[in-house]
Amino acid sequence: MNVLLVGGGGREAALAWRLAQSPLLGELWGTHSNPGFPENMRLLGEGAIAEEAERAGVDLVVVGPEAPLAEGLVDSCEARGMLAFGPSAAAARLEASKGFAKDFMHRHGIPTADYSRHTERGDAHAHVGGPCVVKADGLAAGKGVYVCSSAEEAHQAVDALFDGAFGAAGAAVVIEELMEGPEVSILALCDGERFLCLPPAQDHKRRFDGDKGPNTGGMGAYAPAPVPSGLLQMVEADVIAPVLQGMAAEGHVFRGVLYVGLMLTPNGPRVLEFNCRFGDPECQPLLMLLDEDLLPLLVQCAKGALEQRELTLREGVSCCVVMASGAYPGTVEKGHPISGLDKLREGVVVFQAGTRRRPDGAIVNNGGRVLGVTALGQDFEEARSRAYAAVNGISWKGA
Ligand code: AMP
Ligand code: GLY
Repeated sequence: MNVLLVGGGGREAALAWRLAQSPLLGELWGTHSNPGFPENMRLLGEGAIAEEAERAGVDLVVVGPEAPLAEGLVDSCEARGMLAFGPSAAAARLEASKGFAKDFMHRHGIPTADYSRHTERGDAHAHVGGPCVVKADGLAAGKGVYVCSSAEEAHQAVDALFDGAFGAAGAAVVIEELMEGPEVSILALCDGERFLCLPPAQDHKRRFDGDKGPNTGGMGAYAPAPVPSGLLQMVEADVIAPVLQGMAAEGHVFRGVLYVGLMLTPNGPRVLEFNCRFGDPECQPLLMLLDEDLLPLLVQCAKGALEQRELTLREGVSCCVVMASGAYPGTVEKGHPISGLDKLREGVVVFQAGTRRRPDGAIVNNGGRVLGVTALGQDFEEARSRAYAAVNGISWKGA
């Protein structure tokens, strides 16, 4: 089976690593280069992706990031007769429009924070009464959310969004009740009707240790994360099943990864957000735990023919520590050679994200999040200390 992988970050490096292990894989194609991708992976031409993929003889298109999903890449690949793993543009609105997702949850009784939706600045200001969360409706690379501890902060956030801090993504705004509690993410592989859950994962969004510093795309993640007993069953019955049923009933069958971001509040679990793809970096530890061939699972999801069973997982815990360039999430200095990538111990995999191979062969940093150093251990402590031991052996200027 010839597979095209769309995207070039750490999540896609983990997907490529897993796909390359499949005995069912023929040619592996990509849209982006990443020095961490398998050496025999071929790059697609410069034209429209669906067209180039068809010309290359691709059988299955696996879409990593949210933007091409929201833009309808799955729709255009399916229209050309290819299988595609990921939701259609209409179904991807669960992530691409927070207003759509909130209204959908409201219609289907899915537990989430109370909210209001606004397209007028004055109307939004009028709804601010105190602490709350102000969100850009559209895609903002995980950055369009303001958690406001006072009405004053919330008014500023409303102005920032309507002033265009996130461009068109902020043309509509959602204001939510401010909730409190630990967060956990449950990712499910979905075929439109059936689903298989991966173990709960916990992302660490803040830049520094101890949950301090600015929000980022994610500085690390581990899985399985401990969750209260009964949580998984609750999420399956009260969130994932009604999402799949509701989307199908409304004419937008959801296939691909449904990523449920949850807050465990004193009043019970509440959905914070949906993503319609693997999380990055959550994908790295999750795929390290998966102990079966990924390719048939993706094919079954794309075909609407998932087998209802338990996923086979490795024992223990997997932990991914992201190594980032100095000023991330600000503007970073690029082009410094990375050393230590060739000296890894067993049980550790380094997924490359923001890297580039120079003509002389050296791998240099080329972005904010550079490496996802991912280790497996018997328990969380062992996985974490193995990951940090590997981190300590890798360096570049400003890492
Ligand atoms: P989102 O992209 O919607 O998941 O929001 C990003 C982050 O903002 C979440 O991971 C939470 O930490 C925080 N957040 C979002 N919505 C709320 C809420 N209603 N109450 C408290 N924190 C929230
Ligand atoms: N790590 C969070 C995300 O991928 O949305």
